[in-house]
Amino acid sequence: MKKNQTGERIANALEAQIHACDLLGSPLTKAVLEICLENFKADGIVASLTRGWVGDPLDDNVPLRLAGFIHFNALGGDAGLAPHFESCGGVFAADKKPDLARAVLACFIQHEAEARRFFRRTPQTNETGRAGILLLGFSEIARRTELPLRLREMGASAGLNLLFDKFNYEIETANGPVTWGAADSALTISTQWRGAVPPPLQADIEITDRAGCDLFPVAINDAEARRALEAWVWGDMSARRARLLAALSIADASPPELQRADAAGWVAAQIMQRPPRQTTVLYHSIVWPYLDVSQRMAIESAFAQAGETVTPDAPLAWLKMDHDHIQSFSHLSYRLWTGDNGPEGEDVFIGPCHPHGADIELTEAFDAG
Ligand SMILES: C[S@@+](CC[C@H](N)C(=O)[O-])C[C@H]1O[C@@H](n2cnc3c(N)ncnc32)[C@H](O)[C@@H]1O
Repeated sequence: MKKNQTGERIANALEAQIHACDLLGSPLTKAVLEICLENFKADGIVASLTRGWVGDPLDDNVPLRLAGFIHFNALGGDAGLAPHFESCGGVFAADKKPDLARAVLACFIQHEAEARRFFRRTPQTNETGRAGILLLGFSEIARRTELPLRLREMGASAGLNLLFDKFNYEIETANGPVTWGAADSALTISTQWRGAVPPPLQADIEITDRAGCDLFPVAINDAEARRALEAWVWGDMSARRARLLAALSIADASPPELQRADAAGWVAAQIMQRPPRQTTVLYHSIVWPYLDVSQRMAIESAFAQAGETVTPDAPLAWLKMDHDHIQSFSHLSYRLWTGDNGPEGEDVFIGPCHPHGADIELTEAFDAG
């Protein structure tokens, strides 16, 4: 690709992300990217850092990598950056943008080699708000199978949602407010379940064991990996940051078991052999669009094969809070093989939901009212 074509694509990617930051309510990240765009157009340090990008700069989230690196350094104590970041106890004010610009550019210039290394990281968050939607699926599977759950999460990131039963939930439903979980938990998840009346939640959901995989599992006991996980949450999104820090404090006490593995092979290994007297629940949230066709087919055929061998004492469930593909809406659904319902199992569509878990619209077919 010619240099000016790449340049145009990087400028377009920055403009698109600036627009997205505006819509999503992050004036700070918007300002950081505006500074990057201006410097890029002036052929400054941002141009020299991004010019040779081989992939598609928008698909590869080049703007988020730039903003992530700046936040990473703010969290690391950069004295010029920190005063503009709520996450560091500061505050962003539009009239301080020239100071922010000096700090951003100085950071890229002073840490150019680290920036180049950081840009190899894929932006990666772990959104515990999604547990507010997954909970309904776990409860339904536990209610229907009357067995404890063996949790297996693919694309688990830092594995925080494997600890869903250690969070406190405040849920608005069509039948009024519902609470669930540990009232004294460090983390409260607030969500709305609209539309149909959900079945009562299982008071206790027993978990026999929990494990996850990710291509890039986040080791929360590694200070740099942990800071990067924090850095991907924009520096003025205080509620999201508070959720992440609370979940990390819970995970510190009982770290989830994570493997570095491609979901395609890992899923097969987890669901083929199922211990008795527990329901194996393979689940994922916002992972499916990241898989290519061959990975998806491998997972689907692993379920088809496993579905042939399900017996009533070792049921199998596939719970998704996910998209079918990137353009589609996210939704909660599950397929359950009880051992009595044949090799195809039963598909249950619960409803479309917000991708971060803010709400779900329960379908009429799911009405328990
Ligand atoms: C958008 S994040 C969602 C993380 C987590 N499920 C959540 O809800 O917060 C997608 C995750 O999928 C992982 N991932 C992408 N492709 C994968 C693959 N082939 N196998 C395992 N994990 C994968 C990424 O590394 C990333 O952690």
